[in-house]
Amino acid sequence: MPGVFHSVVRWDDPKEAAIFRAEFAAGSRGRRPGPGVTICRYDPASYPLAALITELLVEKGILAAADAARLDDLTQLHRFVAPELTVLGPAGANEVARSFFETNPAFVETYHRLVRDVLAPAVAQGDCLFQRTPTIRFHFAHEQGFIGQPRYHNDLMLGHPPQCINTWLPLCRTRGDSAMRIASLETSIELLESVDLDFGRFVHLVQNDAAFRQRCHDSSAPVELDYGQFVAFDSRCIHAPQHNVSDLTRVSLECRLVPLEDYAAMRLSYRGTGQRRMPFTRGGYYHESSALSL
Ligand SMILES: [Fe+2]
Repeated sequence: MPGVFHSVVRWDDPKEAAIFRAEFAAGSRGRRPGPGVTICRYDPASYPLAALITELLVEKGILAAADAARLDDLTQLHRFVAPELTVLGPAGANEVARSFFETNPAFVETYHRLVRDVLAPAVAQGDCLFQRTPTIRFHFAHEQGFIGQPRYHNDLMLGHPPQCINTWLPLCRTRGDSAMRIASLETSIELLESVDLDFGRFVHLVQNDAAFRQRCHDSSAPVELDYGQFVAFDSRCIHAPQHNVSDLTRVSLECRLVPLEDYAAMRLSYRGTGQRRMPFTRGGYYHESSALSL
């Protein structure tokens, strides 16, 4: 259910655990030095992701064409979508988000250009592998179905490699509760070291220990951005979606990158902790083409 975690990674084999600790300590080599969270920009006129999402909403029958014409921006989407489609379900996603595993050729073409021309040079600072199917999330205003506590986590807990760099692009402005919260890399590492990198213990404390949860809250801040801005962050950074009780719907896109040199040097087989045990491999979770060869 929303607010409750999927299973998290455990490295039980002592050799693998030692390698994981070394890879965790090293992170990605491709990243610019910095606090772990960097705000970047792109030009929405060249990469009109919000308009393409709106077209897809119409194509999928979620939004009437007449309503699409009345929609000022995606923050107001909740006014035009059937409420039952907006309720968070057991995996923390709603019907609308679930329908966006499939997009269309125009969206894919723009996504690929964005990866090649913006994300790879600005974030990976060179060629990289990238998430084949971007994660598109919808957190509707006055969100229904949110149960439990904010899921503070990092993506390593879900099986992603420490060499991964996350990019998070809201497709409309985010303010207050409509924004994701994130902690700096330094603070995130302190939080993780306080549980000796035991991810199971971390998520248990987040769900059951109000003081620990408050520490995560106090260590993090909402990522308040405008359309055209995005954040790149170290995959070790602790972050969480919030229960969106604001008046603003948030639609966002996530793309995870791994610089090619990091991928070549990876010493463990990383897999997702979900039912599909998705391998974080080239041709698996990552597209078979590198960003610059698209
Ligand atoms: Fe995450």
